[in-house]
Amino acid sequence: MGSSLSCFGSQKVEEVEVLSSTGGNNSWRIFTYKELHAATSGFSEDNKLGEGGFGSVYWGKTSDGLQIAVKKLKSMNSKAEMEFAVEVEVLGRVRHNNLLGLRGYCAGSEQRLIVYDYMPNLSLLSHLHGQYAGEVQLDWKRRMKIALGSAEGLSYLHHEVNPHIIHRDIKASNVLLDSNFGPLVADFGFAKLIPEGVSHMTTRVKGTLGYLAPEYAMWGKVSESCDVYSFGILLLELITGRKPIEKLPGGIKRTITEWAEPLIAKNMFKDLVDPKIRGNFDENQLKRAMNVAALCVQSEPEKRPKMKEVVSLLKGNYGDPKAPIMMQMRLKSVKYGDDLLDLDQNSDDDDNDNDNDEKDVDESSGDDVFGAFDMKKMQDPYKRR
Ligand SMILES: Nc1ncnc2c1ncn2[C@@H]1O[C@H](COP(=O)(O)OP(=O)(O)OP(=O)(O)O)[C@@H](O)[C@H]1O
Ligand SMILES: [Mg+2]
Repeated sequence: MGSSLSCFGSQKVEEVEVLSSTGGNNSWRIFTYKELHAATSGFSEDNKLGEGGFGSVYWGKTSDGLQIAVKKLKSMNSKAEMEFAVEVEVLGRVRHNNLLGLRGYCAGSEQRLIVYDYMPNLSLLSHLHGQYAGEVQLDWKRRMKIALGSAEGLSYLHHEVNPHIIHRDIKASNVLLDSNFGPLVADFGFAKLIPEGVSHMTTRVKGTLGYLAPEYAMWGKVSESCDVYSFGILLLELITGRKPIEKLPGGIKRTITEWAEPLIAKNMFKDLVDPKIRGNFDENQLKRAMNVAALCVQSEPEKRPKMKEVVSLLKGNYGDPKAPIMMQMRLKSVKYGDDLLDLDQNSDDDDNDNDNDEKDVDESSGDDVFGAFDMKKMQDPYKRR
């Protein structure tokens, strides 16, 4: 079925050379449905890499040998074909070493497909908590490279692209890893591809609650600083190897900030590091990274640093010597309300895998500064009135 459907007609196959911000060339083009159908063995289950909020992703190989990942978007009848094409073309022009650029797309009356380069080391999620978790390929050096590269990709989206792009969905499955474990942030600008009236906030919460900035989850208030918050959670995840929300033996769910807060308060920095690294880490880098994470996850958006500041802080560059040094060696935890936690599914499948190295630490904050943040009922920021 559908194999005869071509995208913009098989005649109109454009090939555009897009100059990368880092100098390389990337060809970008419109694919035919037939071509993508053949490349992915008819979108077979065997080729499926996974499924996200917007549809399924399939591994494929084009006739000229290029390995690709094809995202087949769920049917979206209200997004006009031309409108979709224009937006994908805009996104297709965004090029940076740390952003997973689009290889092309296919849009027909029924289908919307986006084509990316296939990333052989899959996602950060697969290495931290998924199929590669047992192999421990992510040593400290690689983790720091992933943190800095992801920050640079985001900084490019926030500060260099015109108009600026807010990612809105920074998380471990959206950081893909190339053959050298270099990070590429994926799925930026995706919110623009969602048709009006489609609520995907519930889907987001199902997979992503632990990364959502409080003001976004509560009031749907979107700004660059929501991405900064999510990046802070991602950084904590990279350092600690823990999930943004984990389920404790009694069924209680705990956020990564709730776990980290007492350890930081007691200066137990070394206990924060993922035990899988077996103590092989750089202490200065650890303190620097924890400082950045603590700055990023502040509940007040205006207090969080900009992504370009995050990049220079991670590099150990504190900028203008006269400027106040941004130090935040305390971390305020965020606690989500039960209604939101009930929607979270990611932590539901790990009942047993996080209680092996529980530390005997006082979980109560005992300090007003660390008062838990209770989330109210969230609203869908995409809802049009
Ligand atoms: N280019 C790629 N190379 C390798 N794996 C990929 C590629 N693109 C996506 N994946 C993987 O395919 C799976 C599904 O991706 P998808 O983006 O649909 O879902 P997600 O990232 O879990 O959630 P979201 O829809 O919020 O982005 C994820 O595990 C993702 O890491
Ligand atoms: Mg994704």
